[in-house]
Amino acid sequence: MTNTVIFALFGDEEQTQVISSALHYEIGQITIHQFPDNESLLTFHTDIKNKDVIFLAYLDRPDPKIIQLLFAVETAKSLGAKKITLIAPYLPYMRQDKIFHQGEGISSIYFATVISRYVDRLITIDPHLHRWSSLADIYTIPTYVLHAADAIAGWIVKTLVNPVLLGPDKESGQWVKDIAQKIGSPYVVVNKERFGDQQVKNTIPEIAAFKNYYFVLIDDIISSAATMIETVEHLKQQDIQNIACVAIHAIFADDAYSKLSLTGVDPIITCNTIKHITNKIDVTDVIVAALMQIQR
Ligand code: R5P
Repeated sequence: MTNTVIFALFGDEEQTQVISSALHYEIGQITIHQFPDNESLLTFHTDIKNKDVIFLAYLDRPDPKIIQLLFAVETAKSLGAKKITLIAPYLPYMRQDKIFHQGEGISSIYFATVISRYVDRLITIDPHLHRWSSLADIYTIPTYVLHAADAIAGWIVKTLVNPVLLGPDKESGQWVKDIAQKIGSPYVVVNKERFGDQQVKNTIPEIAAFKNYYFVLIDDIISSAATMIETVEHLKQQDIQNIACVAIHAIFADDAYSKLSLTGVDPIITCNTIKHITNKIDVTDVIVAALMQIQR
């Protein structure tokens, strides 16, 4: 057993178990009591004095979780924890990376500032790096950015014949190109304009040459699913029958999943960075490998 305790704080118990077994970490127990007024009280049931602490936290729908995360960190420090590592497989607030409208702020900076003040290091998977070129632009702690590309490439090769990858917007180009190179398949990237949370418009480039291919739409995040739905509809209008949707982070806000399913697209596949019924690509190994590397 190492001197490290891992807690599934808004994280998947099963994933915590896999990480703990692979690296001989102790699994810690923490409970969160919610008072009638919704204030939170956290209690550690595991001795963490002089131990390194890891919190595995799925930070989709982050706002109510953040205060509990900060309390967990403060409580751990008061109980004598040494280094505190946050594993947030999905890193929220990365998309507000500029002032889009007058009067707004840049919440990716504010969020990074808070997290950097509290934890000693951050491990995450494919954060939405668009206008920020690296997490170091906004985080002041050591950050470790892991990638789901190998796992996604492996899934495509194992499951689909004759794929062409399609990025539903410019930002997705980075993931699509990387995965396409890994599996040696062609790819196209679509131009997207966003008019609101749920309104997007796509311009699809010429795809006639790929009529007999399996279209694999790849994006980092599915939130309202508007981006995926718009792209699927365009492909269907062009008589494309074989379409798969693959994303890293399965936010699926409100009824986004059923809306996307209603287009008839099948399969819809995501990685287990946020718990969802579509999690078919396991990225736990990527986290384990990174932790091994870091603790060397
Ligand atoms: C944004 O640029 C991201 O890469 C995704 O395309 C976006 O977050 C998807 O959002 P939605 O599902 O709401 O269209």
